[in-house]
Amino acid sequence: MAALAPALAPRGSGPRAERRVVWRSRASSRRFATSPLPSARARVASASSDSSSVVSDPDGELVLVVGGAGRVGSRLVSRLAASGVRVRVLTRDPTSDAARTLADRHGDSVEIARGDVTDEDPTELVEAVRGCTRVVACFGAQRITSPLADAFARPGPHVTDPTHPAAVNFRGVARLAKIAADAGTVRRFVRVTGMSVGYHPANFIAVALNLVLSMTIRWQRAGENALRETAEASRRKAKNPSSTASGPPAPVMEYACVRPGNLLDGPRPPGSTVLIGHGRSHVPAGKVARDDVAECVFLCAFAPNCADATVGVAGAAVATGGVRAEMAWDPARGMHYRATEMDPRVLEGTDVAEMVLTGVEPDAEDERILEKTVPYEPFVAALAFLLAGVAAAIAKGAWAALRFAAGYLVGGA
Ligand SMILES: NC(=O)c1ccc[n+]([C@@H]2O[C@H](COP(=O)([O-])OP(=O)(O)OC[C@H]3O[C@@H](n4cnc5c(N)ncnc54)[C@H](OP(=O)(O)O)[C@@H]3O)[C@@H](O)[C@H]2O)c1
Repeated sequence: MAALAPALAPRGSGPRAERRVVWRSRASSRRFATSPLPSARARVASASSDSSSVVSDPDGELVLVVGGAGRVGSRLVSRLAASGVRVRVLTRDPTSDAARTLADRHGDSVEIARGDVTDEDPTELVEAVRGCTRVVACFGAQRITSPLADAFARPGPHVTDPTHPAAVNFRGVARLAKIAADAGTVRRFVRVTGMSVGYHPANFIAVALNLVLSMTIRWQRAGENALRETAEASRRKAKNPSSTASGPPAPVMEYACVRPGNLLDGPRPPGSTVLIGHGRSHVPAGKVARDDVAECVFLCAFAPNCADATVGVAGAAVATGGVRAEMAWDPARGMHYRATEMDPRVLEGTDVAEMVLTGVEPDAEDERILEKTVPYEPFVAALAFLLAGVAAAIAKGAWAALRFAAGYLVGGA
């Protein structure tokens, strides 16, 4: 592990000797206590020998961070700048305090560009991507209005409203990915979405977020799929280059999708751990520090094992011991929490770089393009009807109690 470059050392982690990793073995399904483990060390050692530095040529890199003035984005920009990589930040408002702070803090290594991924006119986005070797899409729709109308209206606000998740998280991502692939210089495109994008559409968190946040999970997943399709098209194009094309062949644009859990602004809480999963592994969406997410995104932009990978990053307040709590329902107990085994592919520890570099694997062939029409709406409708039924029952009960009280008072008078 000593071979790991200083650039890979995660912020806030202790000396190597004190690092502890929980490693779950798929073969045995046994869980090991929080102690330095031979199996984990073996994997770390073999990976670190291949990755003396995750950024092999900092001078040859220019990374576009869309949403770079945001809270994860600005941490990522600092991480990139610290590793000697030039950064271009795309923001809708280069005069904002956040954008000015970035420019002041990093000087010449960070340039600020204006653009909006929902603009129909692609001129600014094309200009922003020009010459970039990596693109990180670290933005998301911020909109909590008319959620029920959004969930059920067809055609709905997603057609026209530029703040709707359909416009930002889907069409914005699809547009940016296409422009990046067409640029002919972008080697990897990283998209930051959210943990519940990987959950089943019936998962309670996914259903609730869809209901109150304008179907945001549905559109985040559509955005991920658009990126995977664009990357797949780039791969096909590289295999069958046009006979009329001149100049050096364009690189294949790889993808990486990073799905964070609930984001925390402050540093990682003492005693807490980080969970890293990949592909379809189920990671509980616990709170995770934005610093850890930025570190994970940084690695996903460069590490060879993160090419065409989907990575989940979350946190746990205390080491889980491989057990997670999930909501369940049965006729006898109603809605309740039950303890269940963690997915054996999920790593838990305190060293994000170690876990990402040793644990993440590219998506399997069938994961590269996930189901295009995941049926989110029926589950959202079911929850809406359930809530409406509960509200009606409460209103009916309140009305009956009111009438009873009124009758009692009148009768007693
Ligand atoms: N909050 C959570 O708990 C949570 C959990 C999981 C995942 N996420 C996702 O993680 C990502 C980063 O989170 P964060 O905390 O860093 O969010 P943030 O601080 O709100 O930053 C998001 C950035 O997105 C940019 N943006 C929004 N609409 C845009 C548009 N149309 N065109 C270009 N840029 C646009 C904004 O940049 P400008 O204003 O500078 O243009 C903003 O700074 C988001 O995608 C979010 O959805 C959040």
